[in-house]
Amino acid sequence: MTSEWTSSPREVLLSIDRDRPLRAQLERELRDAIRTGRLAPGQRLPSSRGLARDLGISRGLVTECYAQLRSEGYVVTRAGGDTRVSGDAGRSAAPAVVDAPRRRPRIDFRPGVPDLSSFPATEWSRAVQHVCRLLPVERHGYGDPAGSAVLRTVLAGYLGRVRAACAGAASTVICSGYQQGLYLTLHALAERGLRTVAVEDPGDAECRVLAAAVGLDAVPVPVDDDGIDVSALDATGARAVIVTPAHQSPTGVVLTPARRRALIAWAGARDGVIVEDDYDAEFRYDRSPVGALQGLAPERVVLLGSTSKSLAPALRLGWMLCPARLLDAVRERKRLVDRGAPAIDQEALAHLLDTGRYERHLRTVRRRYAQRRAALVEALNRHAPRVSLHGLAAGFHAVARLPDGLGENAVVAAAAERSIGLHGLNGFRAVSDPTAPARLVLGFGNVTVDDIHDGIATIADLLRPS
Ligand SMILES: Cc1ncc(COP(=O)(O)O)c(C=O)c1O
Repeated sequence: MTSEWTSSPREVLLSIDRDRPLRAQLERELRDAIRTGRLAPGQRLPSSRGLARDLGISRGLVTECYAQLRSEGYVVTRAGGDTRVSGDAGRSAAPAVVDAPRRRPRIDFRPGVPDLSSFPATEWSRAVQHVCRLLPVERHGYGDPAGSAVLRTVLAGYLGRVRAACAGAASTVICSGYQQGLYLTLHALAERGLRTVAVEDPGDAECRVLAAAVGLDAVPVPVDDDGIDVSALDATGARAVIVTPAHQSPTGVVLTPARRRALIAWAGARDGVIVEDDYDAEFRYDRSPVGALQGLAPERVVLLGSTSKSLAPALRLGWMLCPARLLDAVRERKRLVDRGAPAIDQEALAHLLDTGRYERHLRTVRRRYAQRRAALVEALNRHAPRVSLHGLAAGFHAVARLPDGLGENAVVAAAAERSIGLHGLNGFRAVSDPTAPARLVLGFGNVTVDDIHDGIATIADLLRPS
C-alpha cells in the first residue's frame, strides 16, 4: 500500500559526535538517511523540539538544519508544521527492492484458495474490539503455549458438536494453521523415533517437504475412488500416515465407511498414528459431512483444523486435537517455536465461535461456493461436455478428467497463453507421470460465477479433442 504521507517515525536513529560541528553532521546524517531510503518519502521527521531534546542540542540548530534540507528539496514542511521527507527526494545509494513482475492469469482456477473477499472483516474487527475492551491486563503477557483456555474450551465444544470429535480443552492445542499443526505433529513423531510417514498419492506436496524437513521419509500410498488404499499403506510398514478423509486433496474423494474402518484397524494393529487433515470438512454440499475419524479413535488420531478456508489464510490460526502420548511434545515444541499463538486473535475467534457468528458466516460462504460449483458444472456441460467432473461432494475444487488424446501439460500451457490459470493433477503426484490420464484440479473458491463461465468459455476448444 502506498500513500503520500505515511505515519510518522517519531524517532530516528542518528549518530552525532559532539566534538565536531553539530549542524553539518546533523544535515549529513539526515541526507544520508533519506538517500538510502532509511527515511522513506512521506515519512514525518521528529519535531524540531523532540529531536533537539533527544540529541541534547539546541532547537534552533535543528530548525536551521530542516530549513537547509527544505531548500535542497529533501524535505517539505506542511501547513501544520510537520516536516516530512519529500516525495521525490533523491535517493541514490540504496537500490530499490522491486518485485519481479509476475504475470498473473486473468482468471485462475488455482485449487485451495478460498473466496478471499468473503473474510468477515466487520465481524472480525468487532470481535477484536470486544476482546481489547474486556481482556484483563494480566492476559496481555505470555499465555499457555497450547493456547487460550477460553478458545480451547469453546473450540472443543464446537468440534464435538459439529465434527463428532472427541474433544476437550486439555487435548486441544492452538497453532498457526494446519501447516504448523502438521509440523508440530511430525516433529513429535520423529522425536519418538519414527523414521517414515505415509502420505497420500496424489496428495499435498507440502507435507512431503515438511516430513523431509523433520527428518522423516515420506512414503507415497495410492489413493483410489474410495480414498487411501489401506492394504498398500500396511505394506509400506509405516506407523504414521497423513490423510484428508473429508475431501481428499486433490482428488476430492471422500474416504468410504469401509476404508475408515480399515484405517482405524490398521492404526490399532500397527500401534500407528493417523494425522487427520480435516480439509474442507466445513463445506459439504449434498449432505452433512461425515464425522472426523478422530472421534472414533482419539488415542490414535491427531486432528488438524484451520481457519484458512473458513475465514482467511491470512489469520494463520488452526487447532490440533492431540492424543495424550503426543501432547507434551507438541506443547513444548510450540513453546519453543513461538511461545503460543497470538492471544488477541485467539480470543476474537473464541468470541465468533461462542456467539454463533462463525457458523453464520460458514452458512453464507457455503451458499456462495455452492453457486460457484453449480456454475462450473454448467459451464463445462455447455462448453466441454466430454470433460467429466469428480470430487464435487465437498470443498471448492474438483478434478476434471479430460478426454483421451489431450495432454495435461499441453492444455495447461495453452490456457496460460490465454491468461487462464489451470493446474494439472501431475503436480500433486509423488513422481510426475507424463503417461497418466490427463486431469485438471479446478479450484473455484476464489473465482466468481461470471469468471467461471468466462474462463471455461475462453479455453473451451482446448478441452475438446481435435
Ligand atoms: C491439504 C491442505 N490442508 C490444509 C491446508 C490449510 O493450511 P493452513 O491452515 O496452514 O493455511 C491447505 C492449504 O492450502 C492444504 O493444501
